[in-house]
Amino acid sequence: MDLSEKANLLRAKKGQAPVSALTAYDYATARLLDEAGVDLLLVGDSLGMVVLGFPDTTHVTMDHMIHHTAAVARGSKKSLILGDLPINSYPDPKTAVANARRLVEAGAQAVKLEGGLGQADKVRAIVEDGIPVVGHLGMLPQRVKEEGGYKKKGKTDDETQAILAGAFALQEAGVFAIVLESVLPKASRLLTKTLDIPTIGIGCGEGNCDGEIAVITDVIGSYPWFVPPFATQRADVAGEITKAVKGYLDALK
Ligand code: KIV
Repeated sequence: MDLSEKANLLRAKKGQAPVSALTAYDYATARLLDEAGVDLLLVGDSLGMVVLGFPDTTHVTMDHMIHHTAAVARGSKKSLILGDLPINSYPDPKTAVANARRLVEAGAQAVKLEGGLGQADKVRAIVEDGIPVVGHLGMLPQRVKEEGGYKKKGKTDDETQAILAGAFALQEAGVFAIVLESVLPKASRLLTKTLDIPTIGIGCGEGNCDGEIAVITDVIGSYPWFVPPFATQRADVAGEITKAVKGYLDALK
């Protein structure tokens, strides 16, 4: 399959229809989300926290990403599978291309990396290699240690202009969409209006981007120990698991 086919369809949704996106990390969830009609499944490095039990995404390796990307690819037919390049996997264009290829070999149809101006040469190299790329701006979880926590972005004009400059550099380098994380609504709307490619928001407020992405465990309530304040929980899977297991234990008594 030509890798750019699904990426081009998703890009063409700008101004036409909202882009729907959720994270997925395993076969069963990917299959359910794919069958429900989600446009894009992100095998996010958030798996470091919600699947592997690390405190943040900085512990995630290429081996983790390959393992989970392959599982999601086995479960998905229609959704675009987006593999996250984890921290330290794209220090220079050559390494970025090599690791992007490894995710594609595992089943990804596009890759995502974090950052703006400093990542443009890596994006260009991956795109020239025939692999579609999504950018990620605003709050960058791979830099949580340097940032000292998860903070909102776009609070000042200077900060907004810096995000905008990064977004233009990424667009120019060939990304087909940009994830905006925890960018304030006004700045999100400006970015969405100014860019030719879709913005996909998380923690940016409703209706300020061309689409929405959410971490699946936040949506279904399967990771109750940490839920970001902006998340909308639509089910209580953790509660259902506890209930079912208690019923199982009671039946054994
Ligand atoms: O890894 C992830 O889940 C992400 C989302 C927060 C967009 O990058």
